[in-house]
Amino acid sequence: MTASEPADLHLHLRRLLAAAAGAASDAELQAIQLSPPKNRAHGDAAFGTFALAKLRGVAPPQLAANLAAAARPDEVGESVTAAGPFVNARFRRSALARHVVLGVLRGDAPFARAASSGKSIVIDFSSPNIAKPFHMGHLRSTVIGAAIGRIWRHLGAEVHGINHLGDWGMPFAKMMTAWMHWGDQKELEKSPMRHMFELYKLYSSKAKENPALDDEAAAHIRALESGADNEERRMWQFLRDESLAAFQGPYDRLGVTFDHITGESFFEDKMEAAMARVAAAGVLEVDDGAEVVKLDSLGIKVPCILRKSDGTTLYHTRDLAAAFWREAQYHPDRILYVVGAEQKLHFEQLAAVLARMGEPLAKKVEHVPFGLILAKNEETGKWEKFASRGGNAIFLDEVLDEAVANVRRIITEKNPELADADRVAEQVGVSAIVFNDLKNSRIKDVKFDWEQMLNFDGETGPYVQFAAARLSGILRKSDVALDAGAELAADLDGALLADAEDVLLTMLDFGATLERAAEQSEPSIVTGFAIQLAGSIHAYLREHHVLRAEPALRDARLALVAAARRLLHTSLGLLGVAAPDEM
Ligand code: ARG
Repeated sequence: MTASEPADLHLHLRRLLAAAAGAASDAELQAIQLSPPKNRAHGDAAFGTFALAKLRGVAPPQLAANLAAAARPDEVGESVTAAGPFVNARFRRSALARHVVLGVLRGDAPFARAASSGKSIVIDFSSPNIAKPFHMGHLRSTVIGAAIGRIWRHLGAEVHGINHLGDWGMPFAKMMTAWMHWGDQKELEKSPMRHMFELYKLYSSKAKENPALDDEAAAHIRALESGADNEERRMWQFLRDESLAAFQGPYDRLGVTFDHITGESFFEDKMEAAMARVAAAGVLEVDDGAEVVKLDSLGIKVPCILRKSDGTTLYHTRDLAAAFWREAQYHPDRILYVVGAEQKLHFEQLAAVLARMGEPLAKKVEHVPFGLILAKNEETGKWEKFASRGGNAIFLDEVLDEAVANVRRIITEKNPELADADRVAEQVGVSAIVFNDLKNSRIKDVKFDWEQMLNFDGETGPYVQFAAARLSGILRKSDVALDAGAELAADLDGALLADAEDVLLTMLDFGATLERAAEQSEPSIVTGFAIQLAGSIHAYLREHHVLRAEPALRDARLALVAAARRLLHTSLGLLGVAAPDEM
């Protein structure tokens, strides 16, 4: 049983079926694809014979029956049976165990990062506006975008994570106007984001009575866009630096990094070329003094304005210049914009402008929208858009602090002896928010409910972390190092783990899970995997002793525990969730 094990169980099975089918052509081989069986009792992998039957002009049930009769079980495939138009196959338990446990401990793809796939993926995420607090939408974009990036990278793609900071244009000019009128250097030094937020609110209320403020703001943009070295430019640099420094705190706590911080201002000198390209494509029209691209022919009523009548540019102009820049720099297969669903029209317009220009890029830009974060209104009991007492914004650090304080309290109750409790509370608290955000499909609204998020028995971050910590605890009590590698399972008799098929089949599904998550830009698929793996390993440990088993069995189970722990850590890591070894 120490013979080498197949690198890819599913591929092996496909070859076995191909041999049984006498498949000759590439098209026939391609037609043999496996999917998870509807019911695990039927087998470990199912093959729907429809496509192959069509190529051969036979009825699918007939083909399935022929295949099942002709298939020769081998050291990997234990049985092949027909069920109507489907063929169900079962792996030998020994091969399954060796493949999964060794694969994980050895660091084989897909359990560990794959070699380069040649794909290039651009992910535009987080992208807060400077001189304004991070709002919950930016938190979601940050958490979802970072997870999507890690998943693609794990699959071997070259990933360009970009923070497209909102650091240009009218919103920023309003801030600058407010600062010039009411700014207070001392307050700014004390708490930059809070002071800027106060100023922004002040501006909004004053501008209602005094529309001249908006004219002032517009004059500031023109001054900034003139490119001159003036007061506006200095102010812009200053507010931008302060904001970036303030955002760094939450980014560090969330473990989020960017490959490029190229905000809207970065495209200041790239917009003219983009405009020229639109004009050259013959789709730029002048409408009431403004330069626009009409999109009616593509079913979009609202034209895309690329230059206002006063000559200034807009959010769209910079997004267009950014798309061209990214295309030229990163040769992306896809450009994903992880931005709230409320910007649906903006991205539809962007893609439509590119489509009207006849740019192949039109098919690569892709809005990845998500729902709102809701908080419970204590008075009415209704779930509403999350907002702080201060108005329509929150200070992310405060929310993270609250999560950590809550976890610290739970630890004091449940495990007062825990060493390093503060560090664990930080990890578990921040992770609970991240996990809660990534738990359901992203387009759904997220309920921000502490009790729910921190429930150690629910489908939560702490629950999965606890499963990983439990596995660490078992290894600690044995003589196995936490970071043990393939040597731990080198002569594993896979048959000893036949009773762990649930855990093993779940782990086997990891690669397909990641592919689906990447394809659909849906980290919740990975969250679901982590919950399932945690559940199956808990269930296994309820019925099987590890440390008290007789020696050969104990070793096999320890290898399983080490592998499950490693894969839980990998899954959590992809989501941006830390896994303490004790909690
Ligand atoms: N700064 C924008 C906002 O806060 C999000 C930017 C998203 N990315 C983009 N390329 N438009 O609403």
